[in-house]
Amino acid sequence: MANFIDLVKTRRSVRSFDGKGVDPKVLEELKAFAEDITNPYGIKVRFIFLDAKENDLSSPVLTGEKCYVSAVVAKGEHMEEAYGYSFQKLLMKAHELGLGTVWIGGTMPREKFEKASCLQEGEVMPCVSPLGITAKMSIKENLMRKGVKADWRMKFEELFCIGNFGKPLDERYAKENGLFDDLEAVRFAPSAVNKQPWRIVIDEHSAMFFEKHDKGYITPDYDLQKIDMGIAMYNFETQMLSEGKKPELILDAPDITVPDGMDYVATYTF
Ligand SMILES: Cc1cc2nc3c(=O)[nH]c(=O)nc-3n(C[C@H](O)[C@H](O)[C@H](O)COP(=O)(O)O)c2cc1C
Repeated sequence: MANFIDLVKTRRSVRSFDGKGVDPKVLEELKAFAEDITNPYGIKVRFIFLDAKENDLSSPVLTGEKCYVSAVVAKGEHMEEAYGYSFQKLLMKAHELGLGTVWIGGTMPREKFEKASCLQEGEVMPCVSPLGITAKMSIKENLMRKGVKADWRMKFEELFCIGNFGKPLDERYAKENGLFDDLEAVRFAPSAVNKQPWRIVIDEHSAMFFEKHDKGYITPDYDLQKIDMGIAMYNFETQMLSEGKKPELILDAPDITVPDGMDYVATYTF
């Protein structure tokens, strides 16, 4: 694998494609990779590769895409974290293979995608992504990025704390404690409407992940921002592994005061 943090920092949402589709060999490699994707929750996420024309699929925010991948999961506890983790693993592999992608959780004709994905009773399909070769950004794409301030990320001290929520963690602390790239991998993660809901409290060899809720992201079936949490967890864990650390996921809510509107999600020990 290429240096993971470089992959994280060179990834961006791609909404303009060259109109030529994906090289069949590359698509086969990605499909084979998808078969073996697992996540720390042991929850199966099913990937469906869809030809846009055959299935009459499109999205108002995209141009030039010929192919999509959708992801389906059975409803249940922790499905969102598992979903975000597994789908991010696939999309980072696509990026490594030279393909552009973008998480699409809202701007799509949902019924069409669900039908094409053969969604069953008891399952959800929160997101899809196009797959293709990146083209020059359209004016529309440029405007969209400006609208959500897509290139902006919150500072370390706004996202991360030491020991409890009262003590912000800055870049210097991260560097001195060998955590800089691990936390950068979270900061650079994609999130719905770039809300960046991830908050992490570092306590010695634990990273406790919390979700800071914004209004309007919990649907009757799932919490979109909890999918953001799974994405960040994948990036954090993969960066740690690439540095030879041994991150392990545990679920054990710490006994600390948690600000209103925030929920505990999971802890990595390392
Ligand atoms: C769960 C999720 C859902 C998203 N849904 C959409 C969407 O419906 N339409 C869209 O254009 N972008 C969508 N995005 C992309 C975000 O807007 C994008 O990741 C964010 O603005 C940061 O930009 P970047 O990915 O280029 O770093 C979604 C991202 C995530 C993680």
